Amino acid sequence: MTIPADRPHVLMMSEITADGKLTLKKGASSKILMKYMAHETELLLHNTRAEYDAIMVGANTIRIDNSFLTVRYVPGKSPLRVIPCSMADIPLDANVLGPDAPTAIAVAEVAPEERIEAIKKKGAHVIVAGKNHVELPLLMKILREQFGVKNLMIEGGPTLNWHMLHDRLVDEIRLIHLPFIVGGSDTPSLVGGMHIDNENEMIRLNLKKYYMCGSNLVSEFDVLYTQ
Ligand SMILES: NC(=O)c1ccc[n+]([C@@H]2O[C@H](COP(=O)([O-])OP(=O)(O)OC[C@H]3O[C@@H](n4cnc5c(N)ncnc54)[C@H](OP(=O)(O)O)[C@@H]3O)[C@@H](O)[C@H]2O)c1
Repeated sequence: MTIPADRPHVLMMSEITADGKLTLKKGASSKILMKYMAHETELLLHNTRAEYDAIMVGANTIRIDNSFLTVRYVPGKSPLRVIPCSMADIPLDANVLGPDAPTAIAVAEVAPEERIEAIKKKGAHVIVAGKNHVELPLLMKILREQFGVKNLMIEGGPTLNWHMLHDRLVDEIRLIHLPFIVGGSDTPSLVGGMHIDNENEMIRLNLKKYYMCGSNLVSEFDVLYTQ
């Protein structure tokens, strides 16, 4: 793993159906699909979390899934939980604001002070990274320089995945393939955001490894950004 000087090394890890979807339908929790992951794959996911300094998901995943983002199924330390939430409007009863692991909420300068104070009262760090919305390159720099984060994994959702890829901040992708098709043109898929206009804008990947983990196929890619 090569660690860049100015940001953490970033792994995107996700459970996806055979048609590339992350949930059953728009607004549904991915926990429903995760129930169908093989136990060996749950261990892989939690072992990966234990290997990483920090884990990040988008604010909407917290609102919908209310994830804990901790290491529970294997021995090991839970990573720093990082949630970009520009207006600091994360629910104050969210599981990530609980005491199980350290948490940093990344906000923009425009976030209301009283929400920032309420988050701090819950014991979480607040990182101001950007004027009107969270700027991910700046957040990565702060995590590296001020929090000593050398490697970070992101577990979605599609909006965060798209912004991280678009900002050229993802080094590796690891996919846990679930043998289901769910369909739905508005069902969240691995990467959301804007469509591209031509093939020059495709983000190229190098498939470096694939293997079975219990009953799940796992594939691993390096991200090859063109210069
Ligand atoms: N299968 C899986 O592995 C998996 C994993 C995770 C999530 N999911 C599913 O994905 C769905 C949620 O995905 P989503 O696309 O709606 O939301 P998301 O990617 O989880 O969160 C996006 C939100 O994060 C906040 N944010 C702040 N700064 C950002 C930035 N610079 N770039 C990107 N986001 C930023 C924004 O909310 P504010 O405007 O409030 O700041 C934005 O709307 C859920 O259904 C969940 O179950 C599946």
